Amino acid sequence: MMKTISLINQKGGVGKTTTTAHIGYALATFHGARVLLLDYDAQSNLSMLFGIESSPAIAEALKTGELAVHEVRPNLWLLPSTTEFVQLEQWLYQNPFALRDALRGLREQFDYILIDCPPSTNIVPETALLASSDVCIITNGEPYSLQGFATIMQFVTRIQERQTELSISGIILTRYDKRKAMCREVEVVLRERYPDVYFNAPIREIQAVVDALASGMTVFEYKRTSLAVSDFRKITELFHERFSLIPA
Ligand SMILES: Nc1ncnc2c1ncn2[C@@H]1O[C@H](COP(=O)(O)OP(=O)(O)O)[C@@H](O)[C@H]1O
Ligand SMILES: [Mg+2]
Repeated sequence: MMKTISLINQKGGVGKTTTTAHIGYALATFHGARVLLLDYDAQSNLSMLFGIESSPAIAEALKTGELAVHEVRPNLWLLPSTTEFVQLEQWLYQNPFALRDALRGLREQFDYILIDCPPSTNIVPETALLASSDVCIITNGEPYSLQGFATIMQFVTRIQERQTELSISGIILTRYDKRKAMCREVEVVLRERYPDVYFNAPIREIQAVVDALASGMTVFEYKRTSLAVSDFRKITELFHERFSLIPA
C-alpha cells in the first residue's frame, strides 16, 4: 500500500503546512509508517520547520529525476523546496507529469507521500494532483472558507478528467475555535454536507502549535501535554484508518 496524498486549499494560512507536518510525524512515530513529506511550495515553510532549506530541492529533483530526500525524524523523510521553485512554473506547463514520473521510483520505499501544496489552483498544485491518488482539503473555519470549496471542487474535477484514479478522500477542519460562531457553523456544514469524507475530528487553534513551530519542532516534541497533541493524534488515527482501507 502506498498512498500519494495532496493536501490542498487555494487559500494561504488555513493550516495546510502545519497539518501536513503533524500528520506525517504522527504516522511515522505512532503508526510505524514510512512517510515522505514533499514540500511543493516555493514559500518552503515545511522545509523551514524541519530546518532544511538547502539544495538539492524539489526543483532540481523534477528536472533530473533524482530525488534527494532527507531523513528528518525516524521514519520521516522530507523532500525540501526553495524559493527558486517559483521559476519552475513555466517548465511545469510543458512537463505536467514530471512529479508523477519522479515519484514513480519511490513507490516501494514509502507508505505515504504527503504533498504540501502552495495556496493556489495554478499549474503547481495541478501537477501535484496529477501525481496523487488522493486529495485532502484542509480548511479553517473562517468566513468564506466554504465558498472557497466550490473553486477547489471544480479544480479537482478538472484534473480528474486526466487523472481518473484521483479521489477526494478527506476534508480536515483545523484552527478550530469553538468560541467563534463561524467555526461552529463551518463544522456543522462540513459534517452534514460531506459525511463520507469529512474527518469528524477538528484540530483546535492552540498557541502551543505556533510556539512549537517557532522553535523548529512539532508540538509532539515541544509540549507533549498540549491539547494539540491529542487533536493531531486523533486525526492521524482516522486518516491512517481511512487510507489503510482504500486499496492502493
Ligand atoms: N492548530 C493550530 N493552532 C494554532 N495555530 C495554528 C494551527 N495550525 C496552524 N497554525 C498557525 O497558522 C498559521 C498558518 O498555518 P500554515 O500551516 O502555515 O498554513 P498554510 O500552509 O495553509 O498557509 C501559522 O502561523 C501556524 O503556526
Ligand atoms: Mg503552507
